[in-house]
Amino acid sequence: MFMNIKNLQFTYPKSPLKTVDDFSFAVEKGEVISILGRSGSGKSTLLRLIAGLEMPLGGSFTLNGKKMFCDQTFLQPEKRGIGMVFQDYALFPHMSVEDNVLFGLPKMSKKDKNKRVQEVLELVELTGFEKRYPHQLSGGQQQRVALARAMAPEPELILLDEPFSNLDTDLQVKIREDLRRILKKAKTTAIFVTHNQNDAHALADRIVKIKDGKIDKIGRPCDLLGVSPTEIPGMVEITYEELIGV
Ligand SMILES: Nc1ncnc2c1ncn2[C@@H]1O[C@H](COP(=O)(O)OP(=O)(O)OP(=O)(O)O)[C@@H](O)[C@H]1O
Ligand SMILES: [Mg+2]
Repeated sequence: MFMNIKNLQFTYPKSPLKTVDDFSFAVEKGEVISILGRSGSGKSTLLRLIAGLEMPLGGSFTLNGKKMFCDQTFLQPEKRGIGMVFQDYALFPHMSVEDNVLFGLPKMSKKDKNKRVQEVLELVELTGFEKRYPHQLSGGQQQRVALARAMAPEPELILLDEPFSNLDTDLQVKIREDLRRILKKAKTTAIFVTHNQNDAHALADRIVKIKDGKIDKIGRPCDLLGVSPTEIPGMVEITYEELIGV
């Protein structure tokens, strides 16, 4: 398996209850996984543990054969090859779109950097917006810049925390369709957190439902809903042509 989490344990200091309790799951390369659960169920904490922003109390996690943590190992967040898009996009307001995306890139020649910026802006359909500043963009466009910035260094895994919560309903639907296409086209493995069932059903290959830090259910949207795969409300169908980018 591409990503493997086993018996993950975590409790915030002074918390009477376990925040993440014996969490185990595995993800295939290129899968889009949704973590679905109520407010306070531990979704953001789980993403922070995967990203390396919190230190687990127990368990193990490997990504593409590399140990991220286990008894003796804790790989620092910047060495994990994991991209993260936060709820509020966290774009730098004083930097143009181009500079925001450039910021995430590792050391490489200027020519290669500019090429990569063009590639990811094309992927999120923002070619021509390079010189704009975040305040000159709509919420959905800012969301796509945040995604482009996270995808620019070609992370092994991308984590998204409630990526649609700041958008109005129409835009939410549009962006989630865009997001699935962008992720599938780039063959990026992704885990996104939401408390919205419709987002999870429309976007994810598989859903992990969590309750009080524990896994409640895991399954494909159609399995959890008890319908055939073509009957998912709002499901984003991707044609072969779209996948290969023609
Ligand atoms: N820094 C912290 N210190 C102590 N407790 C925390 C801290 N951050 C979160 N918690 C608690 O841990 C639990 C899980 O929080 P988490 O942020 O992971 O939930 P969530 O599922 O992301 O919720 P939401 O949907 O509201 O964002 C909650 O009970 C929360 O109060
Ligand atoms: Mg949260």
